This record gives sequence, C-alpha cells and structure tokens, in this order.
Amino acid sequence: MLDLTGKNALVTGIANNRSIAWGIAQQLHKAGANLGITYLPDERGKMEKKVAELVEPLEPSLFVPCNVQDDAQIQSTFETVKEKWGKLDILVHCLAFANKDDLSGHFSNTSRPGFTTALDISTYSLIQLSGAAKPLMTEGGSIVTLTYLGGVRVVPNYNVMGIAKAGLEMSVKYLAAELGPHNIRVNGISAGPIRTLASSAVGGILDMIHHVEEVAPLRRTVTQLEVGNTAAFLCSDLSSGMTGQILYVDSGYEIMGM
Ligand SMILES: NC(=O)c1ccc[n+]([C@@H]2O[C@H](COP(=O)([O-])OP(=O)(O)OC[C@H]3O[C@@H](n4cnc5c(N)ncnc54)[C@H](O)[C@@H]3O)[C@@H](O)[C@H]2O)c1
Repeated sequence: MLDLTGKNALVTGIANNRSIAWGIAQQLHKAGANLGITYLPDERGKMEKKVAELVEPLEPSLFVPCNVQDDAQIQSTFETVKEKWGKLDILVHCLAFANKDDLSGHFSNTSRPGFTTALDISTYSLIQLSGAAKPLMTEGGSIVTLTYLGGVRVVPNYNVMGIAKAGLEMSVKYLAAELGPHNIRVNGISAGPIRTLASSAVGGILDMIHHVEEVAPLRRTVTQLEVGNTAAFLCSDLSSGMTGQILYVDSGYEIMGM
C-alpha cells in the first residue's frame, strides 16, 4: 500500500551513512520515489564526492549543492527541480547546525552569533525551503522535517538547539495552516537520539542514548531506517488526513514521567 511511484522527492541533509536523511532516502527509494539529493558543498568538494558515492545505488535524478544559508543556492536548487521535474511532491528537511560551544555548558552563555546561526540553519531553512517548494507542489505535496524532544522539554546540553527545535515545531504548524488549502501537508518527526555527525556535537550524547536504552518502553534507541519508514508513511497517501503533527519515533521515551 505504501507506494511512492511517480512521486518526485527532494531530500536534504545527507552527510554520510549515519545521517537520518540517508535512512529516509533509502526508504523513499524502496517505496518507488524518484529522488533528488542536495548536499552541503565545501571548498574542496569532499562532501560532494562522499555523498555522490553513497547515494549512487538510489539512482537520484537530481544531485545539487544547497547550503541553506545561501539564497542563490536555494533558488538554483528549486529552479533545477522545476526544469528537470516540472513538479515536486515531497520535500524532506533533515538538517540542523549549532556551534559545538553552544551545545554544552550554561544556556545563558549562548552568544548572539551562535543563536542566529543555529536558528537560521535549523529553523528558518524549513520556512524558506517550504516557500520555495510551494509553487512547485502543483498536485499537492508532503513536507517532512526532523525535530527532537529537546524542543519541548529541557534536555541537558541541547541548549540553543532546543530553542531552534521549538521554533521548528511551531513553524510546522504555521506552514501546515498556510499550505493545507493547496493540499500540501507539513509534519515533523521527533526522533530519539541516534549517533550521527550532528548529534556527536551535543555534549553527553552517549549518556542520552544509554538513558533511552534503560528507560524507554522498547528498551532501545531507534534506527535511521525506522525514522525513514515513518517519513515514507508521512510522504505517502497513507497519511493523507494528517498535517501539522509531530510524530514521536523514539521507542516510546516521550511518554515516560520517570
Ligand atoms: N541524531 C539524533 O539524535 C537526532 C534526533 C532527533 C532529531 N535529529 C535531527 O535530524 C536532522 C538530521 O541530523 P542527523 O542527526 O542525521 O545528523 P547529520 O550530521 O547526518 O545531518 C545534519 C545535516 O545538516 C546538514 N547541514 C548543516 N548545515 C547546513 C547548511 N548550512 N546547509 C545545508 N545543510 C546543512 C549537514 O550537511 C548534514 O547533512 C537534524 O535536524 C537533527 O536535529 C537528530
């Protein structure tokens, strides 16, 4: 029943084979979606090469650089989508960044540049990418973003990223309200802690993972592919009645009081 054949899906946020976006891209591909992949370019082209090699088996029909802090790259990404695909059906927003200094220690020490960077890359980018996707989602669409419990409750060291995720979750709702009449749905997945490049910058990430393994109802953390399965569901017609929601894929950790 989960069939994404004929759907064009743009996936952001793959850095390596641990990335949650990699788990999502694999499951969208498995469901039959036609993939476009964006990567964060660097001066020496290392990321481009690494991501290109990784995603090759998924045969993406688009592979473009997109630093979300660069308006010209965002514009060019969506121009390419329009040129090559004509329409867009699925947008996966799976990226975030904060300076390592701002992911440990006292929250009240967060600097203005650190705050601005974290919110710009991790939160504003969803608004901007969704705005760019809107005119291309001519047959309706699904936008999915990734969030974490630290956006609704205090998690040690998550600090400024908690504020970014709170803003992201509220952006899901405002975007869902605006885009709903165009049959574009916007939802978020709140994933449990997973070891990735981004999460390794959060102070004490291994302790967070061990805590979940001890306390969560399923007594384990989740995998990138499990998050990918929920993303595929949210991108498919199986979730056609849902928008503006945050779904927890966290082994049930969120329900626990102690
Ligand atoms: N790993 C976890 O425990 C966890 C839990 C819940 C939510 N998340 C969220 O999942 C998403 C993906 O993170 P991940 O854990 O897979 O780590 P990751 O490091 O694999 O992915 C983060 C991605 O963000 C990209 N990125 C950073 N700055 C960018 C920019 N300026 N422009 C474009 N891309 C940029 C990186 O290139 C990378 O691909 C993030 O939103 C993260 O907050 C992660």
